[in-house]
Amino acid sequence: MIPQDTIMSILDSVRIEEVVGDFVSLKKRGANLIGVCPFHKEKTPSFIVSPAKGIFKCFGCGKAGDSVRFIMEHEHYSYPEALRFLAQKYGIIIEEKERTPEELMAQNERERMFNVNTFAQQYFSEVMKKQEEGIAVGMSYFRERGFRDAIIDKFQLGYCLNQRDTFIQHAIKNGYSKELLLKIGLASGNEERLYDKYQGRVIFPIHNLTGKVVGFGARILSGDKTKAKYLNSPESEIYNKSQTLYGIFFAKNEISRLDNCILVEGYADVLSMHQAGIENTVASSGTSLTTEQIRLISRYTKNVTILYDGDSAGIHAALRGTDMILEEGMNVRIVVLPPDEDPDSFVQHNPIEVVRDYISNNAKDFISFKTQLLLKDAHNDPIKRAEVLKDIVGSIAVIPDAIYRATYIKECSRLMEMPEQSLMNELNKILRAKAKKTGLEPQQDFGVEDVKVEQQLQNPNVVDSAPVGFYQEQELVKLLLMYGDREIDIDGVDENNNPTIYKISVASFIIDDLKNDDLLFKDEIHQIIFNVYDRALDEGQLPKEQYFISNENPRIVELAANLLSSRYKLDNWGKHDIKVKTEEDVLSKMVITTLLRYKDMVIDDKRNEITKQLMETENVDDQMILLHKKKKLDDIRIRINKELGIVVAK
Ligand code: CTP
Ligand code: MN
Repeated sequence: MIPQDTIMSILDSVRIEEVVGDFVSLKKRGANLIGVCPFHKEKTPSFIVSPAKGIFKCFGCGKAGDSVRFIMEHEHYSYPEALRFLAQKYGIIIEEKERTPEELMAQNERERMFNVNTFAQQYFSEVMKKQEEGIAVGMSYFRERGFRDAIIDKFQLGYCLNQRDTFIQHAIKNGYSKELLLKIGLASGNEERLYDKYQGRVIFPIHNLTGKVVGFGARILSGDKTKAKYLNSPESEIYNKSQTLYGIFFAKNEISRLDNCILVEGYADVLSMHQAGIENTVASSGTSLTTEQIRLISRYTKNVTILYDGDSAGIHAALRGTDMILEEGMNVRIVVLPPDEDPDSFVQHNPIEVVRDYISNNAKDFISFKTQLLLKDAHNDPIKRAEVLKDIVGSIAVIPDAIYRATYIKECSRLMEMPEQSLMNELNKILRAKAKKTGLEPQQDFGVEDVKVEQQLQNPNVVDSAPVGFYQEQELVKLLLMYGDREIDIDGVDENNNPTIYKISVASFIIDDLKNDDLLFKDEIHQIIFNVYDRALDEGQLPKEQYFISNENPRIVELAANLLSSRYKLDNWGKHDIKVKTEEDVLSKMVITTLLRYKDMVIDDKRNEITKQLMETENVDDQMILLHKKKKLDDIRIRINKELGIVVAK
């Protein structure tokens, strides 16, 4: 934790033009500076820096914020990481807490591991370039596969001589312990008899986000089926397989610039794609795709394109990956390659334009992908069609965002020529079943989403520890932050009691509604944000995201940053094929539903309180009063649930 006064002095010291100027070439224009946006592709500059306000804003892609935000975006740092970065730039010392001896030891162990890996990587590269066997065997293998020097150097490929222990001897001579060599997986055997683990194999170093070598993949060159094709480093303090993506260090900037990540399966696929200039490519090499790997990608983009083999194993893996990506609230598109091709061979066999065209013409969203794949042999068989439908709605059900789910239901209804409402019913059925499985009582009316279920599905560990109603509150705060200034249509009556439609901002609808019912948030930060909006509405100027993101209260910053990065923006919808005709409509439903769910929770809470009191009271008069109150609350609940039903069915 960085002390608050240190944060203040960092924020005081930073000059936005200097911070941005390290990464973007800026030209003066009036009071401002202008440059080419580092966050999206553009030819004419639309990226403005205002030294006076201390902010940047891109009029092309809309990214905006202060210095901290810029560093967070540009370097993909967390808030404290960005502060540390800026502190270093401006020579401000952050008083961190002292490290314990154990922490220091662990730190040194990690350093030793990184060192020995770097040592090995340099050695294997050198062998491949300079030694006879290295050139004749390792280098010629890569050449034959079409890899040129530039890519071989960039990915630091190498070769391990086909000898017992040449590397190990060399490493020991250079002071690396046997224990370390065994632990990191460069040696096999035991401390008495060590030998080179990767004998006669070509070496693919695996880099972490900052470009350090955390492990190796080593490919056999013979077709010997009795041996493993790849030997991979074991997991270690520096190498967590499920959190590593092959190529991420070389791909991350491009992933972020193109706002898309291409996912392939193997080392060779990554190399060929990068060599062809498609550098936003990574592989889940060594493991099947994990949720952690998907979260790693999500730091750079919410859009993933899966590019797997067209064989059944590839399609199976793609299907599995699809649901996992959707579950993380990300967009996924799938490209199936022609039969017998993998990304490596496909890129090596075709000119780059053909590859690019193929990818862009064949990328399907998961609904089209599944529909086409599954309907292939279903034709007009109604039973099979129903199965297909179930499968697709099953995928939609894993999507955490209710707005997004609703959108996909629309798309599915269009493609499968099925009424939206029956798909929605199917969806609710699945959500309800899931809720049951996780041990939660489904509510009377399930609707498009049930907040409790939502949370349970998204975050099974947290839900129990959070105070009652925390999530319902948070959903409202999220709506304020993300869509506060958006206008929605609300049905109402005018002064003559005639039905009319009001245009009103999401913020004033929510705030007014809560104030009307005298409702206060229980969570302190939620209430602070509520108050900010309340005051802002009085003053007629809604706060911008930035107000919360660079707020002096770190809990607000954290909450805002989390909420704002956790969900889709409605504006992004157009980009992904799914055309939403009535964004506004979805948004206003969302606002109303969220409010109702919040109130339902509040009433439920009060009702529980009364039930408790009822059990404690013996006085009959008091009991009557309590029962009466309870009845009133129940009436309101029924009304709310009915309204929720109406909102949902509309
Ligand atoms: N893999 C592995 N161990 C194996 C086989 C495969 O770790 N015994 C991993 C590797 O990361 C490999 C990926 O799974 O890159 C995909 O496997 P495969 O398609 O067989 O390998 P390719 O990368 O296509 O290798 P090549 O093209 O050199 O045959
Ligand atoms: Mn291959």
